[in-house]
Amino acid sequence: EKDPVRVLVTGAAGQIGYALVPMIARGIMLGPDQPVILHMLDIPPAAEALNGVKMELVDAAFPLLKGVVATTDVVEACTGVNIAVMVGGFPRKEGMERKDVMSKNVSIYKAQASALEKYAAANCKVLVVANPANTNALILKEFAPSIPEKNITCLTRLDHNRALGQISERLNVQVSDVKNVIIWGNHSSSQYPDVNHATAVGKPVRELVKDDEWLNGEFITTVQQRGAAIIKARKFSSALSAASSACDHIRDWVIGTPEGTWVSMGVYSDGSYNVPAGLIYSFPVTCKNGEWTIVQGLPIDEFSRKKMDATAEELSEEKALAYSCLS
Ligand code: NAI
Repeated sequence: EKDPVRVLVTGAAGQIGYALVPMIARGIMLGPDQPVILHMLDIPPAAEALNGVKMELVDAAFPLLKGVVATTDVVEACTGVNIAVMVGGFPRKEGMERKDVMSKNVSIYKAQASALEKYAAANCKVLVVANPANTNALILKEFAPSIPEKNITCLTRLDHNRALGQISERLNVQVSDVKNVIIWGNHSSSQYPDVNHATAVGKPVRELVKDDEWLNGEFITTVQQRGAAIIKARKFSSALSAASSACDHIRDWVIGTPEGTWVSMGVYSDGSYNVPAGLIYSFPVTCKNGEWTIVQGLPIDEFSRKKMDATAEELSEEKALAYSCLS
């Protein structure tokens, strides 16, 4: 039997945490033959609820689950972890300024970066889910300089999966037959869902849909605004789809993307596609041997360029706001 992998989930007493930890314990994230030890972190007001989640994990008798650490201590939570899924954060509350929310998250991600840097296993892979996801990941990178920057990512796979879902519904084809959409940029409503290179049942999506007005308009806004639509319908934000997409992100990163398929991940920009270096920006990537590579050489038309630049601009502003919270 393989040695267990230690997976940290922060904010584990929250909504996404509640959907995510059973998926991890079932082998959905790392595969059906990979034992896991779950490390769950939350803050003291959620300690009792966190313990309740631990009780349920015990009750579910997951064969792959070799241990559970449920704690409010950041050091204990981070010690020895191979994978860190950062779901905990400070939500925007009514009437709060953007800067105040940013400031809370900057201090959380600064502290957790230091703990991961000191106590996580070497080569720990980090996925930031909590919003503002790209900028939280950037702060984490800045304050964990010894963790390779390629190990720090943020979640845009939910947006990617939403785009696959919309195309599948529109064309009435299986979602598994739709491939290679791209989410560029920020996990926010400025993201650019791009279908110019996407295929369905092996044919270009644009040729099959035959409606550029929809693809350049309603399709894009539906994907961009999907989070808000879920909140309106459910009164809570997306949780099962976020948890499932987080599993997809880590699984493809660790196990690899299928030949001929790319996925979207928020990663540290090296300036590819003229995206400013030094932002955490969502790109199309392929993964092999536990490492992602940005897909290169895709032609970018003028419509796309504008949208890719606009979301980069928003990320630069977020970065400046985050830095202003540090001083
Ligand atoms: P939630 O409010 O139900 O859970 C968040 C949990 O984090 C709470 O249990 C809270 O106590 C905990 N927490 C707060 N500060 C913490 C800290 N310093 N350390 C550890 N835990 C802490 O929220 P939910 O619905 O689970 O969402 C979590 C985050 O994920 C939010 O920021 C949300 O905006 C974001 N999100 C991101 C998505 C993406 O695609 N990137 C999709 C959906 C949500």
